[in-house]
Amino acid sequence: MAHSVAVIVGSLRKESFSLKIAKALAKIAPPSLKLGIVTLHDLSFFNQDLEATPPADWLKFRETVQKSDAVLFVSPEYNRSVPGVLKNAIDVGSRPYGKSSFLGKPTGIVVSSPGPLGGVAAAMHLKALLPGICGPILQQPEIYLNGVGDAFDDKGELTKESLEKVLRDYITAFAAWVGKQAA
Ligand code: FNR
Repeated sequence: MAHSVAVIVGSLRKESFSLKIAKALAKIAPPSLKLGIVTLHDLSFFNQDLEATPPADWLKFRETVQKSDAVLFVSPEYNRSVPGVLKNAIDVGSRPYGKSSFLGKPTGIVVSSPGPLGGVAAAMHLKALLPGICGPILQQPEIYLNGVGDAFDDKGELTKESLEKVLRDYITAFAAWVGKQAA
């Protein structure tokens, strides 16, 4: 049976490259993975005052992650770090204390930028903040996608062959690794 992956997209932008990358990954992933895209438009701010009576949107997000076999973060970099919406989702998913929804889930990180550095600083920050609350993080291959601004056509389809190859190699490796974690 295919392993389900919650693909958490770190941008709310309608024409987000991260969202387009997530959709491209879902198309080219091997049959052993089933990618479900999770957007964060409806997730409210974490507020510790609400922990005893969590809002429905937190519960829905946590359940989506808990039901998945693995997690893949697909995110841009904002100011050399993780966008606020994604950090908020990680905070929501990490609670209650000791019961993180991400616990034990094999986790992948895919970052991108239209610029030259490919979002590497965001990936480093994710790698720094995740270990206490998730499962193992795939370390290699690393994937920092630069120059994504000209990678998609008007319909949002991936047209840049070099990028497609990098994504295909990554998701193939991720699928094999998730399979090993589950074995
Ligand atoms: C950016 N951008 C950006 N890019 C980068 O490579 N490093 C950075 O530190 C930042 N910082 C940053 C901050 C803020 C507030 C914005 C709005 C943008 C540019 C960013 O990579 C670009 O807007 C992407 O297109 C955003 O990702 P999505 O929405 O296309 O997925």
